[in-house]
Amino acid sequence: MKKLCAKFAGLAALFLLMPYAWAAPGDGISGTAHDFSGISSPQTGACTFCHTPHQAQAQALLWNHTLSTNNFSWLETTTTGGTPYSTFAGDTYKGPTAKCLSCHDGSVAIGDIGWWNGGAPGAPLLNSFITGGFQIGEGGDMTGNHPVAMPFPYGSAANTYNSVTNGASALLSGWQPTPEANGIKLYTDDGTSVFAGVTPGQTGMECTSCHDPHNGSEVQDIFFLRGLLGGNTADYICVKCHDKG
Ligand code: HEC
Ligand code: HEC
Ligand code: HEC
Ligand code: HEC
Repeated sequence: MKKLCAKFAGLAALFLLMPYAWAAPGDGISGTAHDFSGISSPQTGACTFCHTPHQAQAQALLWNHTLSTNNFSWLETTTTGGTPYSTFAGDTYKGPTAKCLSCHDGSVAIGDIGWWNGGAPGAPLLNSFITGGFQIGEGGDMTGNHPVAMPFPYGSAANTYNSVTNGASALLSGWQPTPEANGIKLYTDDGTSVFAGVTPGQTGMECTSCHDPHNGSEVQDIFFLRGLLGGNTADYICVKCHDKG
């Protein structure tokens, strides 16, 4: 009995360390790495760290998490296709990538939010920062990361997005013409705002083209991926956009 209890306590400790070990891909936010309802004190809701119904920092997405003030860019100037790498400011760029980087660049505490329970929380509810392999774009340096906030050659044509146009050498036949048919999420930048959905000529990609932060029904694998992490089938995440056949 004692032995069994010790075994159970060990298991319980493991699950406390890895609270999201429970959630399967596509099963929703509860129990994932993005479920902050159980690890904050006092206990907030599952949406609080990212969205608020009132006093949002930005109307788009009713965003509640303090935005990063970093300016993001890549060390290289263009992709091999000749597309200029984008630059964007963490606190003004309208695409969802800036929202991800508000936590993932490691400059703002995970629990640093604007509004909850009718007031601005005095101190961050959860005073820790993202570090290690989960940190992306530290100090604004995006070098080494797949392009985001960038045009996608939608419909096998050059598109313009976030003031950037696919370059003359981007082999247009090398991309799937309509990746949204494969469960990939693309965005339109009409010059005024950025919104989900495709518009020929104005289509681009964000972090959320590959990941769904809610672990929603389009997620097929770990890391909130909209495709498979491994393999060589049509569901492999990379070939959902790149036509290398
Ligand atoms: C870790 C941060 C995070 C958490 C937690 C979170 N969201 Fe989101 N949410 C986002 C981001 C980023 C987007 C933009 C995603 C996109 O464009 O696909 C978004 C988009 C949305 C949208 C608009 C687009 C869509 O997918 O319909 C709704 C509605 C939404 N979230 C509701 C919720 C609700 C309700 C909860 C709590 C149950 C929640 N979110 C929890 C980050 C979060
Ligand atoms: C409120 C802060 C916050 C926001 C906003 C946020 N994340 Fe996270 N995310 C985290 C934390 C914390 C972790 C866990 C890090 C760790 O385990 O060290 C995480 C983990 C992840 C993981 C790994 C999941 C796993 O199961 O291991 C992915 C992928 C991810 N986030 C992508 C995103 C994307 C894409 C966005 C924007 C759509 C985003 N995140 C927005 C805080 C955030
Ligand atoms: C082109 C698709 C794609 C885009 C765009 C993308 N990711 Fe990922 N992401 C992946 C894949 C694939 C993995 C799994 C990498 C691995 O470990 O093999 C991953 C893993 C992660 C992880 C887990 C830790 C790690 O580094 O492996 C985090 C956190 C994450 N992504 C956040 C982001 C954020 C934030 C953005 C936007 C700045 C983003 N991703 C854009 C495909 C993408
Ligand atoms: C959402 C669609 C999408 C997905 C999914 C995607 N890519 Fe990309 N990829 C792009 C776009 C768009 C570009 C830049 C196009 C340009 O140069 O104009 C790009 C560029 C690249 C480049 C060229 C970078 C350079 O320096 O020129 C490589 C390599 C690459 N992707 C590999 C991958 C790998 C590996 C995966 C899977 C982990 C992946 N991509 C998933 C859309 C995607």
